[in-house]
Amino acid sequence: MKVLIVGKGGREHALAWKTSESPLVNKVYVAPGNPGTSKFCENINIKDNDIEALVAFAKKEKIDLTIVGPETTLALGIVDVFQENDLKIFGPKKSVARLESSKDFAKKIMEKYNIPTGSYKTFYNLEEAKLYVEEKGAPIVIKEDGLKAGKGVTVALTKKEALEALEIAFGIPDNKVVIEEYLDGFEFSLIALAHEDKIIPLEVGQDHKRVFNGDKGPNTGGMGVYSPVKRVTDDVIKDSVEKIIRPTLRGLQKEGLPFTGFIFAGIMDTAEGVKTIEFNVRFGDPEAEAILPRMKSDLVQLILDIMENKETVVDWSKETSCGVVLASEGYPSSSSKNAEIIIPEDVKSLIFHMGTREEKGKLYTDGGRVLIVVGKGENLEEAKEKAYIDVKKINCSKLFYRDDIGDKDLI
Ligand code: AMP
Ligand code: GLY
Repeated sequence: MKVLIVGKGGREHALAWKTSESPLVNKVYVAPGNPGTSKFCENINIKDNDIEALVAFAKKEKIDLTIVGPETTLALGIVDVFQENDLKIFGPKKSVARLESSKDFAKKIMEKYNIPTGSYKTFYNLEEAKLYVEEKGAPIVIKEDGLKAGKGVTVALTKKEALEALEIAFGIPDNKVVIEEYLDGFEFSLIALAHEDKIIPLEVGQDHKRVFNGDKGPNTGGMGVYSPVKRVTDDVIKDSVEKIIRPTLRGLQKEGLPFTGFIFAGIMDTAEGVKTIEFNVRFGDPEAEAILPRMKSDLVQLILDIMENKETVVDWSKETSCGVVLASEGYPSSSSKNAEIIIPEDVKSLIFHMGTREEKGKLYTDGGRVLIVVGKGENLEEAKEKAYIDVKKINCSKLFYRDDIGDKDLI
């Protein structure tokens, strides 16, 4: 088979790496890919939002399966266009991708189909939103409606913070804002392959959203991740599948919006049981970089199975993985570019490129999150230790990282 992976980050690097291990696959293309994927796949110089060029490439090369990484490409409707051209693609259509691209849409689906989540209200103007915050008090969560790369959310611990976040959100013309009840508990990411009402759940991961140690500072796309997560029991996972993922897929089907692709639920395990924080309609980043290296099953076979309505069981390594993100100075509010990165030969961990650029054989930073180093071990302690030994070997003056990835499960 020929497989095309769409995207250029760490998630797509991990998807391409896993796909290239499949005995079913003899060629993997990545559009546009990154310096990491260029080492074992063929990078194609097409941007991940250029759907016309992607479809033309897939037709010309007779691609058998396309896997889409970024939510932005899905929200643009790549799946609709590929299907119109009889090309097999794993992802949701544009109308279904609203589950991620509109917080308001996701909340309405959850409300209608009794999916556990925090109470909420959607606002179109600042004054009414402010009154609601005054009435509800803090802590409270402010979410801008559209796709924000993990950055449009403020978990406000004080009313003042909430009001400031509203001023910023409504400073953007025509913005819609969801104000949501604050959920207290243990957060984790559950990703499943899905097709209509069929589900293949994967083992869970724990993302670290805040930029600094101890979960301080603003939200980011994710600064590190480990998998599996000991604190999330089998019962909690079962509840998450049966109370969140399955009824959501059935609800979407009833709405005439059947889902295909990776469904990702951000879940809070609260004193009242599991509650949904958000849905994404693609694999997580950095979750993919920690979860896929533990998967023994063939990912491509799983995708083909689910698309044929087969709920296969996934085979997992017993090892734990721990991924530490190296980000550019200033991330998430700004990011630097063009700082040289040197990765010594003796680095043994898996490294996935998130935002790098190569020129004349040298590697440079090129974005907010730059690299993720993934250590594997018999347990989390060992995985963490291995990851950090290699993180410290990477030489670049403009990168920083959190020191405490995994500590939540070590305490
Ligand atoms: P989201 O983009 O909706 O996943 O939000 C980003 C992050 O903000 C989540 O991963 C949580 O850590 C936090 N968050 C979002 N909504 C809530 C909530 N209702 N209660 C507590 N924390 C939240
Ligand atoms: N790690 C969270 C996300 O992919 O949105």
